[in-house]
Amino acid sequence: MPLNLDGFTYCVLAFGCQMNEHDAERVAGMLEHYGAKRVEALEDSDILVYLTCCVRLSAETRLFGHVASCKNVPVRKNSPLENRIIAIGGCIAQRDGESLLESFAHVNVVFGTQALHLLPEMLADAIYKNKRLADTSDHPDIFSADLPTSRNTPWSAWLPIMTGCNNFCSYCIVPYVRGRERSRSIEDIVSEAEHYVSSGVKEITLLGQNVNSFGRDSYGTPQFARILKEVDATGIERLRFVTSHPKDLSDEVISTFGELRSVMPALHLPFQSGSNRVLKLMNRSYTREHYLGLIEKLRHVCPDIALSTDIIVGFPSETEDDFEQTRSLVEQVGFAQAFTFIFSPRSGTPAAKMDGIPASDVIQRRFDTLVHTVQNGAYEYNQKELGKVIPVLVEGASKRGEGILAGKSPKNQTVHAYVPDGTTAQELAGTFLNIRITEAKTWYLFGEVI
Ligand code: SAH
Ligand code: SF4
Ligand code: F3S
Repeated sequence: MPLNLDGFTYCVLAFGCQMNEHDAERVAGMLEHYGAKRVEALEDSDILVYLTCCVRLSAETRLFGHVASCKNVPVRKNSPLENRIIAIGGCIAQRDGESLLESFAHVNVVFGTQALHLLPEMLADAIYKNKRLADTSDHPDIFSADLPTSRNTPWSAWLPIMTGCNNFCSYCIVPYVRGRERSRSIEDIVSEAEHYVSSGVKEITLLGQNVNSFGRDSYGTPQFARILKEVDATGIERLRFVTSHPKDLSDEVISTFGELRSVMPALHLPFQSGSNRVLKLMNRSYTREHYLGLIEKLRHVCPDIALSTDIIVGFPSETEDDFEQTRSLVEQVGFAQAFTFIFSPRSGTPAAKMDGIPASDVIQRRFDTLVHTVQNGAYEYNQKELGKVIPVLVEGASKRGEGILAGKSPKNQTVHAYVPDGTTAQELAGTFLNIRITEAKTWYLFGEVI
């Protein structure tokens, strides 16, 4: 029987990192290719697809709560199905596989992180043959980025250049659920970028768990600087990339911040801990001094670069002194943004077996202190924008209402402004506006359209 999802509606819910957000667009692309129609609300869906994350226990708990409660949401009126078809993909699916079918009797399909392309067929088997299936097999030659897509924002695109991770930071589950590093071919990446530019995309974000080691697996040595140069040459207006690992960020990549027109003055460079002792236990392969050296080089080529980072608090054996080194590093660098996480033991990782997790009240105090330091730094950083005129890529209406637009500065700051007379935030989405900054808050700037 030819695969046909005509007459079915679907809803995709993505949790976790940008990789899942990207994969959600590919799931949408495939299901639409076979005739299914997208709906935003789970109530309206015949097929519900989850893309899941297990990086911390909190992400997992939230997901399991959602899956358990969606059972009580009745199928829509006029649905061709008696019961909604539910599929679980992403990192929890890869980790737990078939056991999810045992835990949740209402789940029909489980598909792993390398089995995205199998989803339409599995859904058809569930719908037409009443089957319950799980597939977490490895398909190292298939990239989700080669599947059909249906993107959420016409003006900006994720562009995965590699998947997986070889770093095995001692706390992290990602290498176990996303597999080893695999780089796409340079030709495929550049031709995808060219296609985006010719279809009006203004901003490309290159994706990978460790983009700086792009090409090491297939070309022998990292080729990330080359990717930046070639994608810049396509004429894209804004180029960003996540995530960079401090041990692999090369001088050649650093120098692109000064040299390449499209590379935006913003870099996400997780440091995780400011203590060399903890960094060693984390298996991060760099020191605090090395990290600070990178910051110095970056500021040399791009003096006001917006730096963001990830930090873990409460790692096993973290002392007051270790924490103080983390806090002082935040103060010293002056990040534009930082994501702070409480250590979450992930079964199967080396850190889950380490002793000495600090008491929860100690962790909470450290966490609160750190958040406070991060906020002060971000506030200070934003003050420097006051009075400047900044090119903003408009994304639509802000959450504050239809009359206020929201967009992104080159440094990735959120910028709000009143919508000019005679137009709407939706009409302006995807265009650039020059905005003079009149107010600088911790997490956003406000200004007037010039
Ligand atoms: N590849 C990226 C993203 C990894 S996950 C990177 O290397 O930066 C995103 C962030 O989650 C990590 O940077 C880390 O700060 C945090 N994280 C990962 N595992 C964690 C754990 N077990 N507990 C708490 N935070 C964790
Ligand atoms: Fe996890 Fe480390 Fe790989 Fe990032 S670099 S995904 S933190 S193992
Ligand atoms: Fe989560 Fe998987 Fe991304 S564990 S952070 S969704 S790679």
